[in-house]
Amino acid sequence: MCGIVGFIGKSPEKVLLDGLKRLEYRGYDSAGIALKNGDDIELFKAKGEIRNLEKIVPDKTSAEIGVGHTRWATHGKPDEINAHPHVSSDKKWAIVHNGIIENYLAIKAKLNAFGYEFYSETDTETVAKLLEYYQKKGYDEITSLNKTVNALKGSYALGIINKNSDCLYFAKNKSPLFLAKSGDEIMLASDIICFKGFAKEYYPLVDGIFGFASKEKIVFYDNLGETEIKPLPLDLGEYDNLNTYKHFMIKEIYDTKTAIKNIIEYYGVKENCDRLADYDLSEITKVKFVGCGTAYHACLLGANMLFEKTGIDATSYVASEFRYGNLSLDNKTMVVLVSQSGETADTLAAFERAKESGAFTVGIVNVEYSTLSKKVDVSFPIKAGVEIAVASTKAFSSQLCVLNIFAGIVARKLFKSVDPLADVRALYEKFDYGNVNDFKLLADVLRYNDKLFMIGRGDDYCVAQEACLKIKETSYINSNTYYAGELKHGFLALIDEQSYVVVFATNKEIFGKTVCNAEEAKARGGKIILFTCFDLDASDADNFYYIIKTKELGNSLQAVLNIIPWQIIAYYISVNKGINPDKPRNLAKSVTVE
Ligand code: AGP
Repeated sequence: MCGIVGFIGKSPEKVLLDGLKRLEYRGYDSAGIALKNGDDIELFKAKGEIRNLEKIVPDKTSAEIGVGHTRWATHGKPDEINAHPHVSSDKKWAIVHNGIIENYLAIKAKLNAFGYEFYSETDTETVAKLLEYYQKKGYDEITSLNKTVNALKGSYALGIINKNSDCLYFAKNKSPLFLAKSGDEIMLASDIICFKGFAKEYYPLVDGIFGFASKEKIVFYDNLGETEIKPLPLDLGEYDNLNTYKHFMIKEIYDTKTAIKNIIEYYGVKENCDRLADYDLSEITKVKFVGCGTAYHACLLGANMLFEKTGIDATSYVASEFRYGNLSLDNKTMVVLVSQSGETADTLAAFERAKESGAFTVGIVNVEYSTLSKKVDVSFPIKAGVEIAVASTKAFSSQLCVLNIFAGIVARKLFKSVDPLADVRALYEKFDYGNVNDFKLLADVLRYNDKLFMIGRGDDYCVAQEACLKIKETSYINSNTYYAGELKHGFLALIDEQSYVVVFATNKEIFGKTVCNAEEAKARGGKIILFTCFDLDASDADNFYYIIKTKELGNSLQAVLNIIPWQIIAYYISVNKGINPDKPRNLAKSVTVE
């Protein structure tokens, strides 16, 4: 979603634009920068892509400080007026903001009463005017900032400059923000990927922190006064190297095998695998898995894995429903929160509800410096590496592997003599990316279609849901998933000669039943595509319009071998349709608003 970059040093116009480009993957619809040039603050804003902003920012300026922003519209439409930075009425302050100021209408009303006027529809503009309000009362810059953040309710990461100061001001609450220093240059950013090539370590700001940075020093404050934040090493690997791939989505799908290897290595280390050793789980009576989108689909499969390995009652929830739903939660409940980014607002809100109820919380998280990762009682990193494409691929497969290990660790705690890594090792041995030519041919067929159904039972149904989501978000095809047995209870009415029905059938015990359901669709004119890991004899194979094969694994991580072909198919449909699969329309990588 929105992105923040701030900079003190040479050529801030270049550094800010470069930083904003690195944040593009998160999704945005306008962008802007503010530069302090001498005693003036110059503003540049553009609707749409960063290259529109690039056209209006001068190649060279004498500025040495600035802030930049990519905005994903929440309050007010995506246009130049609502784009950040926002400025105070006296044009002394320019600010960029991620998050939502929940009490902005009340602040606006108060400031209106003092004669302040507003030009935008944003909540952010009230913060710029509030800074001015306090400064005009006689407070210095940092005290004005302190008073301003004390008046705010909601979430915010703020990057601020003032035309009479050479400092970069910042504040953070429930929205990520980081700072890095290299020599006398300073960078502020909402994602540490902006620091790659700039610094070797970074300061992870925590909620309630505000402060300022200058060429000489960085000062952090919390509500008790000046405080210290220890820097952490910056280690991002080669995530931004596309090598020979055209898009991050396909590169990241092909990162999966390495990710599985990383997981085996990481959880092969005793202390990493013993993460639950200090916790008594004997009283836990139920486990609830919570996530959004792809992470929710991982939850569905994770709950099945835990039940299978331990017999503990496990259910899954979409995070936005978990927050407000009628649930029984107590200190005998374990809540497992699954999130690639660890910053998804719905998942964080679900965490808060779980925590308030006294539940034991576990995180299955990719971004190890994320809010969720730090807040849960125990966090299990999924070791997928940075994921850039909006469509989550390698993170999903890695989530499944770590959920499987997690289930194994719980089982070992309860029943001993279980090897939590056995299934993942077996997966790694068998893992391959399948027959890509077959996938490409099917992608060619499906690109023109807008009536795509996917059916399955049990784990096959969960994977079909994820396959369907991948195709929807990267190809804009109207595809839907149903339980195979539900076909005859309603949606059979939708089937006609234009329909394609993909049957996920990778469970031997129910193979026949699932395929029978497909026959019902075939009898109504549907073209049936079989997705299976079993060999069929020629006469059976003739029943199907197309067959996609994967390998048979024999444990619950079959789900990983099952999703890879559909990630690849979704990618090629997207590319065939001329869509950029890395940045589908209307979507953001990390959804930081509820
Ligand atoms: C995945 O392809 C989607 N873009 C989306 O559903 C995503 O999985 C969801 O927003 C959850 O994100 P998280 O894993 O970062 O919490």
